[in-house]
Amino acid sequence: SFKKVVDTHDRPLGSLRLSVTDRCNLRCQYCMPEEDYVWLPREDVLSFEEMATLTGYFADLGVDKVRLTGGEPLLRRDLSRLVRLLLQDRRISEIALTTNGILLADNAQELYEAGLHRVTVSLDTLRPERFRQLTRRDEFARVIEGIESVGRAGFTGFKLDTVAIRGFNDDELVALIEFAKHYRAEVRFIEYMDVGGANDWAMAKVLSQAAILETLTQHYGPIVPLPGRGTAPAQRFLLPDGTTFGIIASTTQPFCATCDRSRVTADGMWYLCLYAAKGTDLRQPMRAGASPDRMRELIGAGWQNRRDRGAESRKALEEVGLRNGKLIGIDQLRG
Ligand code: GTP
Ligand code: 5AD
Ligand code: SF4
Repeated sequence: SFKKVVDTHDRPLGSLRLSVTDRCNLRCQYCMPEEDYVWLPREDVLSFEEMATLTGYFADLGVDKVRLTGGEPLLRRDLSRLVRLLLQDRRISEIALTTNGILLADNAQELYEAGLHRVTVSLDTLRPERFRQLTRRDEFARVIEGIESVGRAGFTGFKLDTVAIRGFNDDELVALIEFAKHYRAEVRFIEYMDVGGANDWAMAKVLSQAAILETLTQHYGPIVPLPGRGTAPAQRFLLPDGTTFGIIASTTQPFCATCDRSRVTADGMWYLCLYAAKGTDLRQPMRAGASPDRMRELIGAGWQNRRDRGAESRKALEEVGLRNGKLIGIDQLRG
């Protein structure tokens, strides 16, 4: 076996996010523009075999968890084949899927049988009209069918991810918790992040962990934080009635100190941080026939030099009132 690596902050390589396609069947306002979107050329997108080969190198260096993401990962035909391929490597102890749910009803059973361990469905609202406004597509009913199929297929690890946006869905927190209960899922409220396609991000739209807890305490009574967070982005909480939920407070309380995650895009670019502007091309050397030793060297050295604390840096900038290199007034930050 190979030497496990840690980065400059002593963080191990733990979890790999594999984006299997850049395409999506929604156009969420905080993620993707409606038009002018240039998709990756087909020949640049990694095959499942290439993804498994790359994952093997990451496993050599310490990765044991894989999350399949996109775009929308279920747009990739026969995703369960990738799950089976990745699970041939016994060091991969867990594979999870992040999906918008639209195509889930048709795929859940097969993914479960392939050995997929956990499913996370993104669900920001329970109101069809709001859903259409946010995602620019009328697919709410199919998402709900997808959610219904998860438990039926046999999955127990089931989460619903809700980006909490002030002025958009801040009046649905309780409804979402109750909805999730019904499907034996755990809700995680995600603070809106100034990242990626979040073009009209503003601090004023961030519903903070503190605000979320205040609303839920008013409704349910005292809320207790649960111990044992480890490297997870979510802090979990317990309601008086025994229900649990999580909050991913990337914006107001970043968790970079324990971050063991990195990301490979569908075309084989490796990003060390969600906020990273530049990645490392792994596809080109792999396709040029680089030896496994060379690939491990490339990845190992990249991780050892990793300094990223993107969310913390972003927060520090916010606090001194700097955005996009410009000094702006504190009023603008609050308003
Ligand atoms: P579990 O394995 O279920 O704990 O999943 P996870 O919470 O690690 O993963 P997921 O990719 O589902 O993350 C949910 C949300 O958390 C993402 O959509 C992001 O908003 C946020 N998130 C995940 N990873 C990171 C990260 O490394 N940095 C920051 N700042 N946010 C992250
Ligand atoms: N802030 C917070 N979460 C985001 N996601 C996408 N963009 C953002 C953002 N700007 C979330 C989606 C989904 C997951 C894939 O990423 O809601 O749950
Ligand atoms: Fe990890 Fe970067 Fe997210 Fe911090 S901002 S938790 S370093 S991916």
